[in-house]
Amino acid sequence: MGIANKHVILGVTGGIAAYKSADLARRLREQGAEVRVVMTLNAGQFITPLTMQAVSGHPVHSDLLDPEAEAGMGHIELARWADVVLIAPATANFISRFARGIADDLLTTLCLATQAPIALAPAMNQQMWQNPATQDNIAILNNRGVPILGPAVGDQACGETGPGRMLEPVELIEGVSKLFESGALEGCNVMVTAGPTWEAIDPVRGITNHSSGKMGYAVAHAAAEAGARVILVSGPTALQTPPRVDRVSVLSAQQMYDAVMSKISDTDIFISVAAVADYRPRASADEKIKKHADTLSLELIKNPDILSAVAEHKHVYTVGFAAETTNVEQHAREKLISKGVDLIAANKVGAGKGFGTEDNALILVDRTGLKSLPQARKARLARCLIDEISQRRNAKSTSQDTRQARR
Ligand code: PMT
Repeated sequence: MGIANKHVILGVTGGIAAYKSADLARRLREQGAEVRVVMTLNAGQFITPLTMQAVSGHPVHSDLLDPEAEAGMGHIELARWADVVLIAPATANFISRFARGIADDLLTTLCLATQAPIALAPAMNQQMWQNPATQDNIAILNNRGVPILGPAVGDQACGETGPGRMLEPVELIEGVSKLFESGALEGCNVMVTAGPTWEAIDPVRGITNHSSGKMGYAVAHAAAEAGARVILVSGPTALQTPPRVDRVSVLSAQQMYDAVMSKISDTDIFISVAAVADYRPRASADEKIKKHADTLSLELIKNPDILSAVAEHKHVYTVGFAAETTNVEQHAREKLISKGVDLIAANKVGAGKGFGTEDNALILVDRTGLKSLPQARKARLARCLIDEISQRRNAKSTSQDTRQARR
């Protein structure tokens, strides 16, 4: 599925392989990734920030205590912005500092502050790579699940031969792309609803809401990256269908209900992100309503509750969203019970929150308790949500199997 549209922080540390980082940045962009470069002080001895700025298309970040940089995209914003951090080249010194959690410059601090996966592309002299100190550090990082890409074996800039060459940019891009393909939902049929609904008043007017579809499309994308077959039932949005996702476009809540129900028997997981109108006009006028009268009354009738209807199909693992302006946790718990679903992902909505934004934060509530997914880009949050859903669904079917075996 690749690296297209992913936000990549390319960390460059001070080794001779830094000359390849420019080509790496260029190729990442060619594949559709957005790239921001963070360089250590020593990296600047091998390749200039100006070169990296030219190939990445953005100013290079290198100073932790630069008030100007912090006022723009500071280390916390960078940490939140990233879908992945790729350190290439990663020197023995950087690996050691990262393994120990040292945070004394921008790159190491950012690595502690980000929730995004961090991949390392080691590059150093072969003796340094094989040194027990380096190998201990690599073992620490392996235990932590940090992806180590390479190194390759071959001739080195220092004239020696052995393990320690940085992987080529194409190999690194392949390695990073794989990080987004967890396989957690391999073989699953997932249905996601997204966007607003449109409840027609007459041929030119309707009742709708501020949902942009961004959250739901991100969830559909993340499910496809996790290996699922995904159907996205979408209200009207301006968004492109994510790769490997089948989209069914609808307007009204009733149409969304019909589209969902027609495919529910083949669905394993249902994730209801759409902001569905609870009510619709009893009748939609055939012609445009003229403004003759001083007042106009609309009679509204209730729409079907799609999520509750799906929850009655017990073979489906059902996830609802809850958009709340106050008492988020309490309302989420109430919706979990009243709608009879397996999991509620609740978010706060209101001025600058939830609807239409790039970032979001979720509180997950199920019958075992509560978990917060802190503020992050919707794409990243969606990947975390998909991981959570996959784990919880597995745990549910294991406990069901155990109960059945006891009978
Ligand atoms: O699209 P974005 O701009 O990215 O914004 C994302 C979002 C704020 C819309 C999203 O994160 C979100 O919160 N979606 C749910 C919005 C909502 O309708 O919440 P609710 O609390 O009113 O509904 C609870 C659940 O019931 C939701 O899963 C909803 O999809 C579902 N529902 C509601 C009414 C109805 N008739 N049928 C339903 O299935």
